[in-house]
Amino acid sequence: MLKPAANNPATSPELTESLKASVSQKRAHVVSLLTAAIQEFGNHDEITFANSMGAEDMVLTDIIQREQLAIEIFSLDTGRLPTETYDLIEKTEQTYHTKLKIFFPQAEAVENYVRTNGINAFYASIELRKACCFMRKVEPLQRALKDKKAWITGMRAEQSTTRVNLPFREFDTGNKLEKLNPLSDWTEQEVWAYIRLHEVPYNKLHDQFYPSIGCAPCTRPIAMGEDIRAGRWWWEDPTSKECGLHVKK
Ligand code: ADX
Ligand code: SF4
Repeated sequence: MLKPAANNPATSPELTESLKASVSQKRAHVVSLLTAAIQEFGNHDEITFANSMGAEDMVLTDIIQREQLAIEIFSLDTGRLPTETYDLIEKTEQTYHTKLKIFFPQAEAVENYVRTNGINAFYASIELRKACCFMRKVEPLQRALKDKKAWITGMRAEQSTTRVNLPFREFDTGNKLEKLNPLSDWTEQEVWAYIRLHEVPYNKLHDQFYPSIGCAPCTRPIAMGEDIRAGRWWWEDPTSKECGLHVKK
């Protein structure tokens, strides 16, 4: 793999007037989408935002908190997150004077998996990797979405080949509720411009060439010019690189 460069222009874009203008216009669009969703789906108990603590999700967190939108925020703690992500959870709660609703995997499922397959079994096969993602992410997500009418993600269309046609809104047939992707049309540059302009807390790993952060053992830094998801499950084919949270059924 190529060596990462000494500084990271991706997380500190030049804040030109045109970049500032597009961020401001896209922020207004996000606010209007979320406000309309709150009106349509009722109250705080029925609309929920899945926050991975990634850069995109910190933009949404900032918008939801600053605009005081009645949207619950939850996070899935897989038990294998990087230390920097736990630090950010704490910082986010302090900055916005709020508590994130944290979901954990079922202890019994993790114990069975680890006793049968080993502590790092996800490297052994795609099946074991997907089984780990199911147990640590998908099943807790199903509990997080229970009795909700809509959920919000921080996904962007340009993030991966599996997301190119990502709409702002779709029906999630697997989980059977509406799914909103308000940042679908944002570029990476716009995300980072927002973070810099509004001094949003973010995961320090992003500065160290981790554009996409998941669990620690399944995430590594990328080299300049590599795809932004190249550091996730890097040993797998790009077309299989979804953990099951966003698979269409
Ligand atoms: S993943 O499928 O590869 O893990 P990615 O990290 O790109 O997803 O995140 C896409 C979106 O999925 C995030 O913006 C967030 O809405 C949701 N998501 C991913 N991981 C988590 C998590 N641990 N907790 C809550 N939401 C998550
Ligand atoms: Fe398991 Fe890796 Fe998936 Fe995390 S990303 S749930 S450690 S396979």
